[in-house]
Amino acid sequence: MPGWRLRDFHADDLDGILRLWEQCQRTGSEPVYALSEVLASCQKDHAVVAVHGEEVVGAAVGRAAHNQGWIVFSATADGWHGRGIGPGLLAALEKRMAPHGLSKLSALLPDDGSRVDAFVSQGFELKSRLRYVERRIPVQREELGTLHELGGRVPARGLWDSVGGMRHEKDLLEKRLVLPLAQPDLADQYGIVPPRAVVLFGPPGTGKTTFAKAIASRLEWSFVEVFPSRLAADPLGLAGALRETFDKISELEHAVVFIDEVEEIASKRTGEPPSPLQGVTNELLKIIPAFREQPGRLLVCATNFIRALDSAFLRHGRFDYVIPIGLPDAAARRAIWERYVPPAVADEVDLDQLVAASDGFSPADIEHAARTASQHAMEASLVVAPDPHRVPGPRTADYVEAIAGTKATVSAEVAADFLEDIETLARL
Ligand SMILES: Nc1ncnc2c1ncn2[C@@H]1O[C@H](COP(=O)(O)OP(=O)(O)O)[C@@H](O)[C@H]1O
Ligand SMILES: [Mg+2]
Repeated sequence: MPGWRLRDFHADDLDGILRLWEQCQRTGSEPVYALSEVLASCQKDHAVVAVHGEEVVGAAVGRAAHNQGWIVFSATADGWHGRGIGPGLLAALEKRMAPHGLSKLSALLPDDGSRVDAFVSQGFELKSRLRYVERRIPVQREELGTLHELGGRVPARGLWDSVGGMRHEKDLLEKRLVLPLAQPDLADQYGIVPPRAVVLFGPPGTGKTTFAKAIASRLEWSFVEVFPSRLAADPLGLAGALRETFDKISELEHAVVFIDEVEEIASKRTGEPPSPLQGVTNELLKIIPAFREQPGRLLVCATNFIRALDSAFLRHGRFDYVIPIGLPDAAARRAIWERYVPPAVADEVDLDQLVAASDGFSPADIEHAARTASQHAMEASLVVAPDPHRVPGPRTADYVEAIAGTKATVSAEVAADFLEDIETLARL
């Protein structure tokens, strides 16, 4: 007299499944499939239960994926082991899934060896030399709608690594921003409150926007750019639209929020009558304290003209850091050139010469010069037949010529102003 019987799952069994699931967790064999997945499969795929009276004492849940079936959950209640429930459930589940014409049925089990016998007795083969890996997808499905409405996105992986050179800046951003934001518990142990808002400043084209995106990519957070001036057309009015945008942002679990050219809205309050953007500034100033209360997000404001900003805007308590992003040094320029010189000709191109000749260039200037050189070299190859003994592609001379033809975005005067701004306004 076994004291239990098998039957198909029905909706009343959800509680029983939940209890079995919690028991698995308690006993340290963390189930691979999330509870929500198991419950979804109970309702939409295949599930059988073992019951004693109407009490659920065991369950097996499976789903078919093309030709292969997976057992997403199987468990026997404490006190009911050794009574053949496990093998019985597996046999019943396999029978229930048979109409799919599966070629394989697979399951992941805890590596403590428990539960293997039940599977082996039902003809499952124990595979060795396999490891289980998983990755949590950083932006979850529930957030995608909100993210879409905000015009935000999940930045490409690896963007951080693709930022060439800029070792000093990267190091600073990594330590001050990424480290505490990525590991808030560790930061807490050191008594560090992770930063909530920062300003990046520096001449145009030095990579402020790139860095803002790269920080999001490095943290695996969503990236949302807010365009205050575009919100002006909103029927809610500028201030209302800005508030609504930040309300939506607070629905995201994690986000880097980016406002570019922030001097447009937060410049010194000169001029009569006041600029219509003044209202945005006031609203933004009101929003920042609430924004700072929420963990898991970072506001990044960028500006080319930090000295134009209202000093009240920059004050302590609002922005944690005011970080200069300067022109690339030689090492950074080399790394940036390496990104643009095609690999096939990289050995032949005299990088040292390019690095030296592009002193004072921003990353954007280097990109421009590199693209110009490539384009000219290709066009020239249509006129003069290229040397058949050499790999086609731009040569050092093409680059040098393109560099000579590129006007540095940052003039000596702007560069000097920037150094002065670092002295007076940077906060690291
Ligand atoms: N460190 C870098 N390595 C490679 N390319 C870069 C780097 N910094 C900037 N760039 C490129 O230069 C261009 C301008 O950068 P951007 O981030 O828009 O500058 P900013 O926002 O400071 O004006 C972009 O095409 C970007 O990809
Ligand atoms: Mg920019």
